[in-house]
Amino acid sequence: MPIKQAIFSSTDDASDYLANLIVRRINDFSPSASKPFVLGLPTGSSPEGVYARLIQAYKDKKISFKNVVTFNMDEYVGLKPSDPQSYHYFMFNKFFNHIDIPRENINILNGLAEDVEKECKDYEAKIHKFPRINFFMGGLGPEGHLAFNEAGSKRTSVTREVTLVQSTIDANSRFFGNDPSKVPKTALSVGISTILDNTDEIAIIVLGSAKHFALDKTINGKRNDPKYPSSYLQDHHNVLIVSDTGAAGLKSKL
Ligand code: GLP
Repeated sequence: MPIKQAIFSSTDDASDYLANLIVRRINDFSPSASKPFVLGLPTGSSPEGVYARLIQAYKDKKISFKNVVTFNMDEYVGLKPSDPQSYHYFMFNKFFNHIDIPRENINILNGLAEDVEKECKDYEAKIHKFPRINFFMGGLGPEGHLAFNEAGSKRTSVTREVTLVQSTIDANSRFFGNDPSKVPKTALSVGISTILDNTDEIAIIVLGSAKHFALDKTINGKRNDPKYPSSYLQDHHNVLIVSDTGAAGLKSKL
């Protein structure tokens, strides 16, 4: 099935739509302790609005995360969870600290693991303990990376340590005082196979005209092109790209 698109004239509307979709999917699933809803999650500025809205939905008693299990996509190597640039810090600060998810239901790769190979293997195995990832929310890097799967990542890739390419280091240096030398050089990331082969439904949030190139490669680019790892999404039967008009390459009417 081709990748579906939902395009909104503002980032707020796009975030509203995706947050509502996640709330609906979790509530329709009626999760319980023995049948939790498994949710894949990204970091980055694009999903921030979705997290804020999910917190609000929790406060408004429209949703509980008690029986939701989460798997984050990636983490920098070498940053402590208390480091404000770590993805641990981001996730607790922007989301987990404000909802009722039990700590033991939260899974994030440990970028400080002594045995990195074991950490990645164990993470992949933990995902496979669940029947499926019910829903994976993702974001896109400006050059089409998915999680930290950089250009050259294989369709069969699983959770592993990856070396970040210079364009990712440059793009993410905005969170490190605009100093690329402060950005970790490697990260742990779920693979393309981890996402595509275990997930029922994928929704990618893509905001801003700087992402138009990546969005275009994702949808209209060559299928399964390792140069643009997000093009592997064409290989999945249920992917929705939620974007604003800027990322979609359309002029906003507003
Ligand atoms: C990082 C993350 C990706 C994320 C990307 C885009 O590189 N590893 O998972 O999708 O940033 O982030 P932003 O939404 O801030 O542009």
